[in-house]
Amino acid sequence: MVKTTISVIKADIGGLAGHHVVHPRLKEVSVAELTAAKKDGLIEDFYVTAVGDDLQLIMTHRKGVDNPEIHELAWNVFSKGTEVAKQLGLYGAGQDLLKDAFSGNLKGMGPGVAEMEFEERPSDPVIVFMADKTEPGAFNLPIFRTFADPFNTAGLVIDPRLHEGFIFEIMDVFEDKVVEMSSPEEMYDILALIGTTGRYVIRRVFRKSDREIAAVVSTTRLSLIAGKYVGKDDPVAIVRAQSGFPALGEVLEPYTLPHLVAGWMRGSHNGPLMPVGEKDARPTRFDGPPRVIALGFQIKNSKLIGPSDLFSDVAFDEARRLANVIADYMRRHGPFMPHRLGPEEMEYTTLPKVLEKIKERLKEA
Ligand code: 13P
Ligand code: 13P
Ligand code: MG
Ligand code: MG
Repeated sequence: MVKTTISVIKADIGGLAGHHVVHPRLKEVSVAELTAAKKDGLIEDFYVTAVGDDLQLIMTHRKGVDNPEIHELAWNVFSKGTEVAKQLGLYGAGQDLLKDAFSGNLKGMGPGVAEMEFEERPSDPVIVFMADKTEPGAFNLPIFRTFADPFNTAGLVIDPRLHEGFIFEIMDVFEDKVVEMSSPEEMYDILALIGTTGRYVIRRVFRKSDREIAAVVSTTRLSLIAGKYVGKDDPVAIVRAQSGFPALGEVLEPYTLPHLVAGWMRGSHNGPLMPVGEKDARPTRFDGPPRVIALGFQIKNSKLIGPSDLFSDVAFDEARRLANVIADYMRRHGPFMPHRLGPEEMEYTTLPKVLEKIKERLKEA
């Protein structure tokens, strides 16, 4: 049986009016390139979208994860897009392309990558999450709740196929190491790690009974430049739903809490993660608040059926309202922690300069 791979590859290659939205021309260029790749048989299907200033390529193919041709295709799309972004004078043109030339794999080159390969079920619902103004650790809380919290996921209690639980692969971003931990037995240990969202990031989730892949989060850039702080990478995640996995609603339910995440304004502030439909993924307030969109597809014969724009439901209105209230509350702290991140986590900081300036004046207390 042929396996299908879904690859979500994203990059910020330039924003319209600052770090705000992707210019329609960049989406057009991407669609043209991916249409050609589909005609050539390299990919089976694709969908292009954006969240804030991040351009998203959602692709299906039969070449497995980490395939050099697929990664090169995405790199070429982003490179062509960057040329257009430069012509248009878009802000931060080519921001996420950290290298000059492609060298086999996107790891460490700047774009974010989440990929999974699986044998299709007769009906295979998949949800793609894409976020802006935050970091991969932002998915720790919702993914934990979906796959480990029985108060969120009824299936953990009442569906025999989920009852054994899930295995979490957690990455230590500083040490560039991963560990597999088993829920529910090690639930408290898992939480002890993933509560430190800037360091321990859920990378993959497997169903325990058969090790079937259930979820994957982009940690591409983090894994190579580990050991030093590399900034907030606006992340993506892929989650499989239904018949032996959490139901669609169990995957989406955690986002009714706009939890605090890092990455707002200059990559240096905490703020609420606001779930929105595609058309509302246009962060403006203090460059935010951080946004997440969710697109639901059915995968059939490696084709993408859909999407449905999942957070455009009125049922998430209250989460958005709460996010706005939290945004007001957080903003009133101005430059004070915990709205502003701690010094070790700030993306752009003048703190070393300030310390240098007052060096002479620092006296024993
Ligand atoms: P610049 O205006 O100097 O780019 O910095 C602010 C910012 O938006 C950080 O990305
Ligand atoms: P992005 O990471 O989305 O480019 O935003 C940068 C920033 O600092 C916005 O304030
Ligand atoms: Mg940007
Ligand atoms: Mg962004």
